[in-house]
Amino acid sequence: MTGLSDSFQRPINYLRISVTDRCNLRCIYCMPPDGIPLMPHHSILTYEEIYAVAQAAAKLDINKVRLTGGEPLVRSGLPGLIQLLARIDAIDDISLTTNGIWLGRYAAELKSAGLQRVNVSLDTLRQDRFEPITRCNHNLGDVLAGIEVARSVGLNPVKINMVVMAGINDDELLDFATKTINEGWHVRFIELMPSAGVSTTTAQFVPVSDMRKQLELLGELEPCLPGIGNGPAKYFRLPHATGTIGFIAPISEHFCIHCNRLRLTADGKLRPCLLSEDEIDLKQPLRSGLSSAGLKQLIEEAVARKPLRHHLAEGYMPKDRPMTQVGG
Ligand code: 5AD
Ligand code: SF4
Repeated sequence: MTGLSDSFQRPINYLRISVTDRCNLRCIYCMPPDGIPLMPHHSILTYEEIYAVAQAAAKLDINKVRLTGGEPLVRSGLPGLIQLLARIDAIDDISLTTNGIWLGRYAAELKSAGLQRVNVSLDTLRQDRFEPITRCNHNLGDVLAGIEVARSVGLNPVKINMVVMAGINDDELLDFATKTINEGWHVRFIELMPSAGVSTTTAQFVPVSDMRKQLELLGELEPCLPGIGNGPAKYFRLPHATGTIGFIAPISEHFCIHCNRLRLTADGKLRPCLLSEDEIDLKQPLRSGLSSAGLKQLIEEAVARKPLRHHLAEGYMPKDRPMTQVGG
């Protein structure tokens, strides 16, 4: 590839765009218990501003974008942004991460706007746990229905992301894995990361190695290639499963080696790394009439500033934004 690479020779071709800091849930590992002070509306990038950033990024051979939040579906007019992004020739993969509550409502419209696929964050299959984990009284049934609607309109593959937490949902690994056999789900099990202000603790951390031991009770995990999409997960298949199992190990494995991404926050900062406070402001320059060439330069600067890895193991955790403001 001829495009961007950082100072550690990692190719950077993926931009995650947080379109809002708002969320209709308050997951325990993501959001502080009392919520977050919300960004004022005028400090959130308009869709036209996001489009300008994506166009400049595409000129630098960024070819994948993912919309995140908060919860992206709480921002009105999101299909309109997807239509804009779909017009950019160089971008060939447009995806969305959602909590699924409103997915059933919007899936068809999102698909026809040009969205290709979705990841759904879902940490339990039990209604009695859904409320304590998300700290809201929505229905798990809405998420499950949303997943089915997304699949039926062709937002494939739908990937289910489960953050595994000891004593909270780690007894449900086999239930999720069974869905890869019986229902063709693609499930990814994610190690819990510490995040500023949240109520989860390191005592709830479960390493991928422990998850694998549990899952092997269902049969041998056969390595397989990632389907569409790349990134930090390693994929496997259980015997007779049409769906896949992925593991994402931000803590126990060197997942930073494969990092291919930049993040754009809802208030217009380019963040070279999820787990570092370093940011480059694009909003002010954009609003002062920065050219596309100028934007490209700032994007290149952000790539050059990507750190080699996070320092969670040494006890360093960014304190400036909770995970909900960076989009996971
Ligand atoms: N640990 C691991 N993953 C997290 N996410 C958010 N916060 C955390 C955390 N503390 C990821 C999850 C979630 C998505 C929105 O962001 O995958 O599903
Ligand atoms: Fe909202 Fe997703 Fe964070 Fe849960 S994990 S609070 S759904 S942004």
